[in-house]
Amino acid sequence: MSIVRPDSMERITTKALADAFIEEQVAAVRAQVGDKKVLLALSGGVDSSVVAALLIKAIGKQLVCVHVNHGLMRKGESEQVIEVFGKELDANLIYVDATDRFLDLLAGVSEPEKKRKIIGGEFIKVFDEESSKLEGISFLAQGTIYPDILESDGVKAHHNVGGLPEDMEMELVEPVALLYKDEVRVVGEALGLPHAMVYRQPFPGPGLGVRCLGAITRDRLAALREADAILREEFDKNGLAGKVWQYFIAVPDVKSVGVRDGKRYEGWPAIIRAVNTSDAMTATIEEIPYALLHHITDRITHEVEGINRVLYDLTPKPIGTIEWE
Ligand code: XMP
Repeated sequence: MSIVRPDSMERITTKALADAFIEEQVAAVRAQVGDKKVLLALSGGVDSSVVAALLIKAIGKQLVCVHVNHGLMRKGESEQVIEVFGKELDANLIYVDATDRFLDLLAGVSEPEKKRKIIGGEFIKVFDEESSKLEGISFLAQGTIYPDILESDGVKAHHNVGGLPEDMEMELVEPVALLYKDEVRVVGEALGLPHAMVYRQPFPGPGLGVRCLGAITRDRLAALREADAILREEFDKNGLAGKVWQYFIAVPDVKSVGVRDGKRYEGWPAIIRAVNTSDAMTATIEEIPYALLHHITDRITHEVEGINRVLYDLTPKPIGTIEWE
């Protein structure tokens, strides 16, 4: 293990502690980087967003953020990255819409591990292509956090789609590498990032790609994205968003018969998953009130093209994993 958190380091739980940490890191980054340029893959997840905000504070336009939209983001997420970083924080942001590249490569591929490999591999390719167009980049910033270092024996390596090639010959800038997730969030809020961005639920690197089960098609992916947005909106409105650890929709590659406007209507089922856990190793099911389940079912089946049933997955982990693939 290369970096060790000193025992004396106080847990960052308050704005005052976060501000002190930010001040210290701003000075450290400036000392490390000087007047050179730093590159960051900005996924819009908590860790890379907090690193971006911290580096913008420290070195402004010397930071170049690259956001690759792989077409598997949740509804509104890439837009939020552009809004917050491109507009509000006036960052040097390169936005790459690589949706077609990813979806073309994934067409017809149903094997989950193969899908993950394609998504991870293509991500590196796109990021590499973008960075090779840039001149004078000396550093690579990463949103590594302390649990990544503790777990670097493989688990996260396989999970992290944003994993970058080791042969990128750049010195690393990792300002939150000693922090736990809860501390990263406190620092993010102190930096002025939106609450929803800093407290968002975990989202797998391969994104909706592992929730559009089997071979991904654009129409089923679009249905999944809309249904997921409705679930998130209803969880927000009903006070569940801050309470439930992870919640999402999965849409299998199966159609059933239904009826809409007096006519036969074939569609896919939307499967709701809503789980609580502390470490994602085991998980229990959130008891969503029945009235809310009815309301969500009603909205999804009426508002989302292609969905004609809503199911609620009651399987804890084990025996089910949290994701479906
Ligand atoms: P499972 O499905 O293994 O998921 O119970 C445990 C946690 O890990 C997340 N997960 C992933 N995260 N890339 C990621 O970055 C992945 O390929 C991946 N697969 C699962 C999952 O969302 C849950 O929080």
